[in-house]
Amino acid sequence: MANYGNSKYLIDRETIEQILSSAKIEEVVGEFVTLKRRGVNLIGLCPFHNEKTPSFTVSPAKNYCKCFGCGKGGNPVHFIMEHEQLSYPDALRWLAKKYHIEIKERELTDKEKQEESIRESLFVINQYALQSFTDTLHNTEEGKSIGLSYFRHRGLREETIKKFCLGYSLEKRDAFAKAATTAGYKPELIAKSGVCYSAEDGRLQDRFWGRVIFPVHTISGKVVAFGGRVLQNNAKAAKYVNSPESEIYHKSNHLYGLYFAKQAIMQKDHCILVEGYLDVISMYQAGIQNVVASSGTSLTIGQIRLIHRFTNNVTLLYDGDNAGIKASLRGIDMLLEEGLNINVVLLPEGEDPDSYAQSHSTEELEQYIERNKVDFIRFKTNLLLNEVGDDPSRRAKLIEDVLKSIAVIPNEILRSEYIKKCSEMLNSSEQLLVKETAKLRMKNAEELEKRNNNANKTENETAENNAVIDELQQNIINSYDNALHNKEKAIIQFLLKNGNKMLQVPENKENNIPSFTESVLSHLYYSFEEDGIEISHPLYARIFKEASEHINNPEFNPEKHFIAHPDHEISTLTAELCGERYLLSRFFAEKANDERNEQAVLFEQTTRLAVAYKLSLVDDMLKNTMERLKDPTTLSNPEVMQHTMEDFKYLKETQRALNEVLKSHGFGNVALNI
Ligand code: CTP
Ligand code: MN
Repeated sequence: MANYGNSKYLIDRETIEQILSSAKIEEVVGEFVTLKRRGVNLIGLCPFHNEKTPSFTVSPAKNYCKCFGCGKGGNPVHFIMEHEQLSYPDALRWLAKKYHIEIKERELTDKEKQEESIRESLFVINQYALQSFTDTLHNTEEGKSIGLSYFRHRGLREETIKKFCLGYSLEKRDAFAKAATTAGYKPELIAKSGVCYSAEDGRLQDRFWGRVIFPVHTISGKVVAFGGRVLQNNAKAAKYVNSPESEIYHKSNHLYGLYFAKQAIMQKDHCILVEGYLDVISMYQAGIQNVVASSGTSLTIGQIRLIHRFTNNVTLLYDGDNAGIKASLRGIDMLLEEGLNINVVLLPEGEDPDSYAQSHSTEELEQYIERNKVDFIRFKTNLLLNEVGDDPSRRAKLIEDVLKSIAVIPNEILRSEYIKKCSEMLNSSEQLLVKETAKLRMKNAEELEKRNNNANKTENETAENNAVIDELQQNIINSYDNALHNKEKAIIQFLLKNGNKMLQVPENKENNIPSFTESVLSHLYYSFEEDGIEISHPLYARIFKEASEHINNPEFNPEKHFIAHPDHEISTLTAELCGERYLLSRFFAEKANDERNEQAVLFEQTTRLAVAYKLSLVDDMLKNTMERLKDPTTLSNPEVMQHTMEDFKYLKETQRALNEVLKSHGFGNVALNI
């Protein structure tokens, strides 16, 4: 069974390493991008932004990809994380599946089983339900003769049914409930997931019995809810039954189909919004993949932001005779407010996206949408104009209504464009409309402020507490000197990239030590140990400590080791640091063309980095000592005064000596601000 927990240690290190060494960048990218050979590299159109000439470069040798247009890319895991919007462990699972690598997810102990959060269990139950419903559809007599034939009758092809993981729930009130309890799932949790509910007599009942099933996927492909449709339209039962809200399902934060559409939405920089499950599925089958559904309810701000992650452009596709259009007009203002460009397309009378897609080709569909799209403001104005007629007071009301929509548009230029257009359509003075819009904006701002004030007062206590705790933690982290942390970050980045390389320590004539070579890691480690320095940032400190345990292992590759780290925080940081433009590039820029051998250069760089770090530590201590020197309790005690003066002198000397070292490596007398 797939494990959807977010627990840190579910995928073991060996497996991660196996995945990383099997995943070939050209094959992984090649699943989504058509690549052509160009010299030693491959090149294609970037999947992360819109472009006409290819700038997405894949290097099989480095097992790395990068777009020279938008900068996105990375190793196979990063690519999948970005492209499929997956978390690190889920990206690893994705790759494991592609390369048929079995993920050994270790058996949980009884205690852990108890501790496993409800959320995780609910994901697992939903996954189990998904498997049960699809299995029932494809592999039982009833499923095939009723469910599958229904989908076929609705014009869906086998591949589409599989793609959207459609299913069937047997026409028996507790078939699933029984199967799930027998499989060991706790009845309370099954009920919590919403797939079943507790009837009045306390028995567990199936919510979806006798219905075809539409699973609802999250943006990363986990199933969190189901919609079930009755088979006969004339039945007394509701046409659709949906999973209720649960710990893992908040209806207002999901859009049906987004998981399947996000790729196409990104590529086309355009999202088509429809109402229903079958509208999405039929459009997709007809070759239009950038389609999502709000599932019959009016849009929420959460759903809008989901769309906005992928594009600025939304087209609403309505049935020709949809009575609900007017009701949904208000909700659309929220789209405008989020800064989205909205167009509306009305289908011919009697058609909905599902029926239209079933009877037209991809080109016809695309053409229809392209030719019939009207910007939202114009659409709304026309719609209202049609019903208002000549009545002056109703016209005034209409104008205000349209201006309300315009007033929420954040972009000023767009606003004035729309005002111009409306003044033509409504036959009223542009100047007046500008003035009215400004008034409305003022009013909106006031209301927003009022709302915010109220919200602050009524905010519930836990949220407040959480915020306080968050802030505290943030302060603790910030209170380690930020500049210091940046230097530590630079050191860790340097260590990850170069830790296993050898550097050459030059001969020390004064102490009669001949030149020798050692690894960058070992040099840094001893250089810090010598002065009793410990890295202050907790995460960096862990990396440094763990790396130093491999000091004598010539096979040790820090980047490889830490990117495959079972602790998600560490692997993510590694990915970030190794993908990031080199923090130190400015620092080392003038040495880029150095012709001396690499080992000597590495020695220089390592030394400079370590010294710069030590200098900033000394600076801190100096500041501290100065404070103590000014302190009355110090001043009044000659002995303490004496000690403090000595400390100060010693630190000053150290500072001077460190600056000398920097100078001898061609650097000025300043502590580096990396
Ligand atoms: N819906 C719902 N519950 C209902 C009715 C509708 O959740 N009782 C949602 C479903 O997501 C549905 C969408 O609203 O897909 C649109 O509803 P409707 O137009 O009635 O259904 P269609 O999608 O057209 O479904 P079908 O074509 O199967 O009749
Ligand atoms: Mn329909």
